[in-house]
Amino acid sequence: MSVEPVRKGLEGVVAGETSISDVDGQRCQLIYQGYPIGELAGKATYEEVSYLLLYGALPSRSQLTEWTKQLEASRALEPQVASLLKTLPFGADPMALLRTAISAVGLYDPEADQETIEAIRRKAVRAIAKTSTIVAAIGRLRTGAALIAPQMGLSHAANFLSMLHGREPTAQQAQALDAYFVLLADHGFNASTFTARTVTGTQSDYYSAITAAIGSLKGSLHGAANRKAMEMLTEIGSAEQVEPYVQKTLADHKRFMGFGHRVYKGEDPRAKHLKLIARGLGESAHELTWFAISERLQEAVWNAKGLYINVDFYSASLLHYLGIPTELFTTMFACARMAGWSAHVIEQASDNRLIRPLAAYVGPRDLRFVPIDQRPT
Ligand code: COA
Repeated sequence: MSVEPVRKGLEGVVAGETSISDVDGQRCQLIYQGYPIGELAGKATYEEVSYLLLYGALPSRSQLTEWTKQLEASRALEPQVASLLKTLPFGADPMALLRTAISAVGLYDPEADQETIEAIRRKAVRAIAKTSTIVAAIGRLRTGAALIAPQMGLSHAANFLSMLHGREPTAQQAQALDAYFVLLADHGFNASTFTARTVTGTQSDYYSAITAAIGSLKGSLHGAANRKAMEMLTEIGSAEQVEPYVQKTLADHKRFMGFGHRVYKGEDPRAKHLKLIARGLGESAHELTWFAISERLQEAVWNAKGLYINVDFYSASLLHYLGIPTELFTTMFACARMAGWSAHVIEQASDNRLIRPLAAYVGPRDLRFVPIDQRPT
């Protein structure tokens, strides 16, 4: 038996250094490369923030033009990947479809196995751009609709909405999704990012790290909480049903999706921005039901259990107001987090050390081998 104290779930363990983002649980602050999230939300675009995360500084105008050009030029899928997508079973979980598709993108990337920092950066541009094309394609194929090619001249967010819905979004809708992408672009050593870094630590390739990260994000204690939060709002159905729902959930010892956080000891600093955006979208759509249920639930769960909302709570109504099907919600999170995952792969590869913790063995020892015909039946 190990004498080292075991931190289940690595809670409180500092597993490495990063300059990409800081999740300050005590002060409830999130910082990207020195900028508090409130400085960026609603001011910087996802294009600027993805550059910031990957290069460590906000781009100049010419750098942004070049970066945007690279993203635009990388959006289209290779014909083989588009053909593969069409053969996949569309009843499958969209995160599983995305995981398969990103892995396939890697098969056709000419630099798949080149792991210099510059090569990883080039792959990151391609993968960030293509992920939103894949997610829009998954959304359309699930309903039997034809795929829509990416459109030049639109922002990352506007292009996504246009590929998904087959029409250009309003400026408010495009800005809402852009801000969502910014707010979810990175978040310290969360489970999926740590997964990407662990894979990179073995000197495996960029696409293996991203594919593994998608698998990690798929879980309901991580990325799937936004989807579960929307299912919860749908189950509640109206603001009047909030209280009975809260009482029943407490009685059944179940969890409220979109509440609680391992690191933040107060409210998630992203939540208030998402709430404001969700309300704005609801007001423009003259449909405040989902916002009203959310607000009432936020208050009721706080009163009943003292739990704060996290990033996933208002993400749910925000994405719903953008016409995004609930089943696609976690893939939206993945679109945003592609920038953060990529930045962490680069940072890990730049100063690598194999990630290999110890385990406290609690099983038996010194057993003797018993031939099969002498074992109890
Ligand atoms: N609903 C109800 N109770 C919750 C809760 C939630 N969403 N989150 C935490 N709690 C309660 C637990 O039941 C536990 O209470 P207990 O000590 O009386 O048993 C206590 O708070 C601590 O929970 P624990 O699971 O140890 O906290 P954690 O740090 O491991 O969990 C989460 C963090 C995010 C996994 C957890 O808050 C959760 O499951 N949230 C819902 C899923 C979600 O929104 N995930 C997205 C995270 S960004």
